[in-house]
Amino acid sequence: MNNSIVDKNWWKDEVIYQVYPKSFKDSNNDGIGDIPGIKEKLPYLKELGITTLWICPIFKSPMVDNGYDISDFEDINPEFGTMLEFDELLAEAKSLGIKIILDLVINHTSDEHEWFQKALADKNSKYRDYYIFKEGKEEPNNWRSIFGGSVWEKVPGEDCYYLHVFDKRQPDLNWENEEVRQALYAMINRWLEKGIAGFRIDSITFIKKDQDYSSLPADGVDGLVSCKNKTRNRPGIESFLSELRRETFDKYNCVTVGEAPGVPYEEFPQFIGDDGYFSMIFDFHYADIDVESGSDWFKRTNWTTAEFKELLMNSQHALQDAGWGANFLENHDQPRVLSKLVKEGFRTPESAMGLASMYFFLRGTPFIYQGQELGMLNAERTSIQQFDDISSIDNYYRSIEEGFTPKEALDFVNLRSRDNTRTPMPWNSSQYGGFSEHEPWLAMTEEYPEINGKSNSVLEFYKQIIDLRQNSNVSSILKRGSIEFLTDVSDNVVAYERSLENQKVYSITNLGTNVEEVQLPKAIDKILLHTHELNRTESKITLLPYQSILFN
Ligand code: NOJ
Ligand code: CA
Repeated sequence: MNNSIVDKNWWKDEVIYQVYPKSFKDSNNDGIGDIPGIKEKLPYLKELGITTLWICPIFKSPMVDNGYDISDFEDINPEFGTMLEFDELLAEAKSLGIKIILDLVINHTSDEHEWFQKALADKNSKYRDYYIFKEGKEEPNNWRSIFGGSVWEKVPGEDCYYLHVFDKRQPDLNWENEEVRQALYAMINRWLEKGIAGFRIDSITFIKKDQDYSSLPADGVDGLVSCKNKTRNRPGIESFLSELRRETFDKYNCVTVGEAPGVPYEEFPQFIGDDGYFSMIFDFHYADIDVESGSDWFKRTNWTTAEFKELLMNSQHALQDAGWGANFLENHDQPRVLSKLVKEGFRTPESAMGLASMYFFLRGTPFIYQGQELGMLNAERTSIQQFDDISSIDNYYRSIEEGFTPKEALDFVNLRSRDNTRTPMPWNSSQYGGFSEHEPWLAMTEEYPEINGKSNSVLEFYKQIIDLRQNSNVSSILKRGSIEFLTDVSDNVVAYERSLENQKVYSITNLGTNVEEVQLPKAIDKILLHTHELNRTESKITLLPYQSILFN
């Protein structure tokens, strides 16, 4: 960093790549990706141009939810490697100029965490109050967990239940207990002392529960109601989040990316403003356009491009008004974007490039999920037995319970399954895609012999867009400029202007399936990027479906 001037906003200039460790690269051929595998692929990431890695949970875990169930916050899952190997990864990344952020999962732990084990073993132990236990013969209320069924699980041999917003093997921590909070802060600070650059913070809007624990009218045939109404972004959360920031992140020049679903735009200033809880947050308003809620996959929508564009514009405006956003197309909970946002018959490498160009230059820090840069597609599965993800299995049976046929249920799950993006990374066309020499823990996608990291036009395009944002003469505009949408275009066209000190860059993308003619906002000086063959005059450009252009 420059002399003594510390740039508190350094994270605005990053390009962040998300690694799902179980599926990135297997170094010891047991079929499971690992930390040495990530280290082996650092040169690939360097060449791609990314500056920060976000690694999904690598901590000790029984892997019920693939690491989002932590049994020891300060140890590494042996499947992934050792603390020494993590330290080596951190050092090697540093030498290449790549920072590392980790996943911070502090709403819940695994049921195998020592705290929970002690809480279960002795009802008079102080650890009972580390979690949310309620005495009684019946479940305390009708809240439905995010992964299905009641949020309450009976304690064996007692008239007592404990609460889990996610799986029953992910008991929620009791944030009302000061000792719990202090223990978490100390753990966070130890990781930051180690030299990681920050955290992506899991499910953080769930830490405060309505203390009345009262039932609500059912919203499903199971007689239950989504627990989100009583456990997500509830009043009182502000004091926990302020304290979290004050006791940890504030003491370090680190980045924090909040996974903060359920926050209305009016509250964005509290979350990401100058004194906000986090550096940036993910906004899910348009990511979940194809379903009514991210957890009920049978409630599909008939979304239109016009609606998508409206949500995207609202999101960018809200983020700009309040602070900074984390822009993404994919992650480990979402389907592949080419399958989700592009209509059948158009799912080509060029369309993958069009989507990339559309989102990458939005105002905010861009995130790339592993394999997105290859233009990967969803992995279609033919029976529920082929799924690993707990949420897929729950959604399948819940759909049937709601009256859909098994075939319909499987279709919903194929469209939305979190296993779509969790398939092993295909590095080449060899057996198991060069991910491993052993059969991987989850089957590869069908297309891997063609779509892989060996020779791939989408990958080359990603290198280009990263280079434009990071190292070109328009970098400062693309990184720090403001955003304004052009309104004089068809509903299917997303067009925006980035500007900084009177310098401007324009991005225009056709997100529809028809050819679109667009009146240019100004005569083109230089075409910085384009995805399909160009067809233009001085004043107009004709865009094919999913074609995108960047110019100034
Ligand atoms: C959000 C994570 O992204 C997801 O993968 C996980 O299952 C839940 N939080 C619970 O930790
Ligand atoms: Ca391995």
